[in-house]
Amino acid sequence: MEKLTGIKRIGVLTSGGDAPGMNAAIRAVVRTALDKGWEVCGIRQGYAGLIRNDVIPMGARGVSGIIQRGGTILGSSRSPEFQTTEGREAALKVIQGNCTDALVIIGGNGSQSGAYELSQMGCPVIGIASTIDNDLYGSDITIGVDTALNIALEAIDRLKVTASSHHRAFLVEVMGRECGYLALMAGIAGGAEVIVIPEVDVHPEIAAAELRAAYERGKAHAIIVVAEGARCNAARLGHFFAEHQQRLGFELRTTVLGHVQRGGAPGAMDRLLGTQMGAAAVEHLSRGEHGVLMGMRRGEISSTQLSEVAANKKPLDTHLLELARILAK
Ligand code: F6P
Repeated sequence: MEKLTGIKRIGVLTSGGDAPGMNAAIRAVVRTALDKGWEVCGIRQGYAGLIRNDVIPMGARGVSGIIQRGGTILGSSRSPEFQTTEGREAALKVIQGNCTDALVIIGGNGSQSGAYELSQMGCPVIGIASTIDNDLYGSDITIGVDTALNIALEAIDRLKVTASSHHRAFLVEVMGRECGYLALMAGIAGGAEVIVIPEVDVHPEIAAAELRAAYERGKAHAIIVVAEGARCNAARLGHFFAEHQQRLGFELRTTVLGHVQRGGAPGAMDRLLGTQMGAAAVEHLSRGEHGVLMGMRRGEISSTQLSEVAANKKPLDTHLLELARILAK
């Protein structure tokens, strides 16, 4: 990839599902770029805004008081138009028309695939790893995961209280798309009796047997944490338990957390991740480097080629399910 020289102006956008900590990343990008004497523009509503030239100037005061705010001040979107060649060409014209030398793209899987496409078209880009799903190759942890996990945990802790009072079983469905990371970690940290993730198929009868075993061991509550992408998801498990309630001897109540997990104010971890990745993105650009994703690997901010990010699926350590099973005893 050709080295980038003489940067005068960069753009920043947030794309895909919003994640707590995105604002910290925007703030860091803007202020470190200004410190280098560059101009910064913000693109509103992700790739959709880029295509329609929804571009605004960004100054130091424009990013004041946002580090503690959830969501993204720039707005975000999932843009079907950007997935077409015509859409991407239109986006590239806008980037060139705005005299933008490079673009910082904050987002998850789909957004970084889009970043890779743009870089292949000759546009200098840098990605920043941000998604509550933690399913992005190139970063052990992504912006938003920690806050989303803490929100899920708060819900699980509360449900445990009422589950114990009523001797009921509760199912909590968490987000994560096709990835079981959020469910696995929330299940372990929340002390769930059963965890169901897309990566490991579970028959409802097995889940029911594990819940029954928990009651037989003298537990007053039983919690199943299910990933939304699991084949045996909340709807399927809920249906099974309702149908077999008589035989199973206990009822199951379902809570789907949904977007509640995305809307929180970022905790310290996500503010720091966003800040460090945002600053590192600008540092990379100032050294002429682009076409990479800024992530966190082995505790350090690192960069991974976008081509590698787009081509690989991040693995999940499913061995932790066994640990969860032992700890649920
Ligand atoms: O990728 C983040 C995420 O919150 C997933 O966990 C979830 O499946 C999806 O976005 C929901 O997308 P939307 O907000 O577009 O409905």
